[in-house]
Amino acid sequence: MAHDLMDDLEEVLLDERAIATRVAEMGAQISADYYDKDLVLIGILRGAVVFLSDLTRAIPIPHSLDMMGASSYGKSTVSQGFVRITNDVSMDLENKDVLVIEDIYDSGRTLAVVRDMVQAHKPRSIELCAFLWKEVGNRAANLDVKYHGFRIPDKFVVGYGLDYSEHYRNLPVVGVLKPEVYMNR
Ligand code: IMP
Ligand code: MG
Repeated sequence: MAHDLMDDLEEVLLDERAIATRVAEMGAQISADYYDKDLVLIGILRGAVVFLSDLTRAIPIPHSLDMMGASSYGKSTVSQGFVRITNDVSMDLENKDVLVIEDIYDSGRTLAVVRDMVQAHKPRSIELCAFLWKEVGNRAANLDVKYHGFRIPDKFVVGYGLDYSEHYRNLPVVGVLKPEVYMNR
C-alpha cells in the first residue's frame, strides 16, 4: 500500500525547478497586467490548489482568492463529457477582475462551464489561466486561455495537483504513470 509515488512514474515531464521558474514568470506577467485592476484569483477545486498556492505567492500586488468546485473526470482517465459544479464562489465579484485558475486545459469543458458560472456574478472582467495546456486534436470547447504554464502532449499526467483516482496530487513534479499502475487498480 504505502510506497513512494515517484516510483509509479514512467516519465517526468516537468521537474520542480522548471515548475518554480515558470510559475515565477507567470506571477510577474499577471502582476504587470493587473497592477491597476481589482484582481481575484478563483481556483478550481481540487486540481488547481497546488498551482494556486504557488501562483498567489508569486503575485506581489494586492489580490483576493476564492475557489469554485468542479468535477468532470471521476475515476477514469478520459474526460467524461459532463461537468458538475460542486460549489460556487462565496465572494462578491461585482467590479472585480477575475482570473480563473485551472490545473489543465484539456477538453475545455470545465473552463467553459466555470467561466459561464463566474459571468453570472457580473465581474468587470474574466480571463482564464491554466497551469498546463494539453495539445488535444479535437477540443470540445476552444477557449481563449490567456495564460498557461506549459504545453504538454496529449497524455494523462499526474502531480502538482493533478490526480489519478485522487492520488498523486502531492507529487512535486508532473509525470506520466506507468501503465501497470492503471491495471492494478
Ligand atoms: P476538461 O474539462 O476536459 O478540460 O478537463 C479538465 C479537468 O479534467 C481538469 O481540471 C482535471 O481535473 C482533469 N484532467 C484533464 N486532463 C488530465 C490529466 O492528464 N491528468 C489528470 N487530470 C486531468
Ligand atoms: Mg481531476
